[in-house]
Amino acid sequence: MNAPVPAERPTLRFLTCGSVDDGKSTLIGRLLFEQNGIFDDQLSALERDSRKHGTVGEDIDFALLVDGLEAERQQGITIDVAYRYFSTPRRSFIVADTPGHEQYTRNMATGASNADLAILLVDARKGLLTQTRRHAFIVSLLGIRHVILAVNKIDLMGYDEAVFTAITRDFEAFAAELGFKSITPIPLSARFGDNVSEPSRNMPWFTGGPLLQALEDVDVSDHKADKPLRFPVQWVNRPNLDFRGYAGTIASGTVARGDAVVVANSGKTTTVARVVGPSGDLERAAAGDAVTLTLSDEIDITRGDMLAHPQARPTVADQFAAQLIWMSDERLLPGRSYLMKLATRAVPVTVTAIKHRIDVNTLEETGAVKTLGLNEIGLCSLAASTPVAFDPYRENPDTGAFILIDRMTNATAAAGLVDYPLRRATNVHHHDQSVTRASRAILKHQHPAIVWFTGLSGSGKSTIANIVESRLHASGVHTTLLDGDNVRHGLNKNLGFTDADRVENVRRVGEVAKLMTEAGLVVLCSFISPFEAERAMVRSLVADGEFIEVFVDTPLEDCIARDPKGLYQRALAGEIKNFTGISQPYERPAKPDLLLETRGATPEQMADAVVSLLEERGIFGTAWWSLREGEGI
Ligand code: ADX
Repeated sequence: MNAPVPAERPTLRFLTCGSVDDGKSTLIGRLLFEQNGIFDDQLSALERDSRKHGTVGEDIDFALLVDGLEAERQQGITIDVAYRYFSTPRRSFIVADTPGHEQYTRNMATGASNADLAILLVDARKGLLTQTRRHAFIVSLLGIRHVILAVNKIDLMGYDEAVFTAITRDFEAFAAELGFKSITPIPLSARFGDNVSEPSRNMPWFTGGPLLQALEDVDVSDHKADKPLRFPVQWVNRPNLDFRGYAGTIASGTVARGDAVVVANSGKTTTVARVVGPSGDLERAAAGDAVTLTLSDEIDITRGDMLAHPQARPTVADQFAAQLIWMSDERLLPGRSYLMKLATRAVPVTVTAIKHRIDVNTLEETGAVKTLGLNEIGLCSLAASTPVAFDPYRENPDTGAFILIDRMTNATAAAGLVDYPLRRATNVHHHDQSVTRASRAILKHQHPAIVWFTGLSGSGKSTIANIVESRLHASGVHTTLLDGDNVRHGLNKNLGFTDADRVENVRRVGEVAKLMTEAGLVVLCSFISPFEAERAMVRSLVADGEFIEVFVDTPLEDCIARDPKGLYQRALAGEIKNFTGISQPYERPAKPDLLLETRGATPEQMADAVVSLLEERGIFGTAWWSLREGEGI
């Protein structure tokens, strides 16, 4: 045996993927043997067994070292993954060996969790097989970013460079889309030890190092601590009334005493009072550390909740798209409830749609399918019974990977990788998510809108807007009316009529009107709003078609003649500064949604024109209903 492994020696976890005859067991067996990863008594047993059962004449059959497990499995002991250990002066290694045949994918997925690297074995005589492609694809889906393409049995192909080059080229073409950070092809013979621990003399044309060197050299650091903080709460630790701590392992990022933290689902924020490690209080802790956090406020947190920093929260959604790798003999049933386990959370989910299946040979999407069978992979839409906190898998494997459990048998049915949330408002957290702008509006059977009346003082804007609101109200439309004279008595009472104040007046009103559209309302606004730029700004606050500009076009002389508040008289006398149309410009709208020429028309007629336009545009009424039907609501 080796000397004890120094604690600081970095560990590389890897798994090997290959079909039964590719020489997987022989390769691992040889690595273990050559690095003295086995006990002396195992060695003598191995020599004895090799003579008795071996397939390689007088030589040691390294495969027996690994396949000894076969016997255990025959005795009915279920082994999904077996871990083996060896080390060199530079690194220690953990090999996940995944026996099994029909359940191979599932075993592989189990072995792949936490693995840094995968060795994909290819038989030099056979080249790339469907299996190799499937393995490469699954390995990439499971977030392993480094692969070694071990082209084994090259001795049986006369150590031919051309064979190796062709297989390497095929693989690199296939793997181009899989996003591996490194692909290291090595021609080797597990049986004879070429390019396993030592460079082969039989392949002087190969300039790369042997397998062991590649395993020692690969840089797999993934900087988990640099990612945003994700602390899935494993359990609430409450030994007595004086202590309430939240225990778990930091999935990513770092947390320090005094940090502000948010509970992803509820949106409640507080600060970290203590970070308690295995041997006492810590100033800070990082990804991989198991800690208990205490918080300065008593807020409701349970197992499965996720803590994060408020400025870098995970996504919280109850619907999302995910890649599913189906691992059960029982086919996927869309609509059936499975238990999803993501980080420390367990939530019932259903698959609402299978968008497509992925052909592992070509990586192409195959058309619509209704189900997935064993080992099949598909992009699916999932709906959870309550919102779940997660990150897209490519951003954070620890909070983006999950498994689905068959609720009847408790067996793992699938491994899943979150692709993206299916809600649009992904930047809106907690309470805003459950009732949306659209749902508020649908409840009112209307489409929210800002109807913006602009025109000179005394043009009749407010009179018309007032009649419009009465008519809409009578038709069951939920409205509100913001009028310059009124708003200037409250919200905007600190504003006058300089250019800057008018800009600010319209800006505030625009924001308020926008909030009211969030409530699903049809908001009537009556403001002189003399500047084109501010009217355009308000238009840009809402979606296309939701800002309806009505230009109440009354000639200045008519306004002066009407002068309902006596203001023109005073302005003309020089008593009021900055009076629109007299001492300040009014910029006529270039393209209003509706131009109302008031001369010769009654306010009622003009109000009718506005109401008709709103109905035509589907803000309410029959056009609204038919638009809804078009959207399948
Ligand atoms: S805006 O131009 O800033 O949009 P707003 O519509 O809020 O004006 O207010 C206009 C109302 O303020 C007019 O209807 C009028 O009653 C009153 N008012 C007082 N002083 C002025 C002024 N200098 N110019 C225009 N309107 C004024």
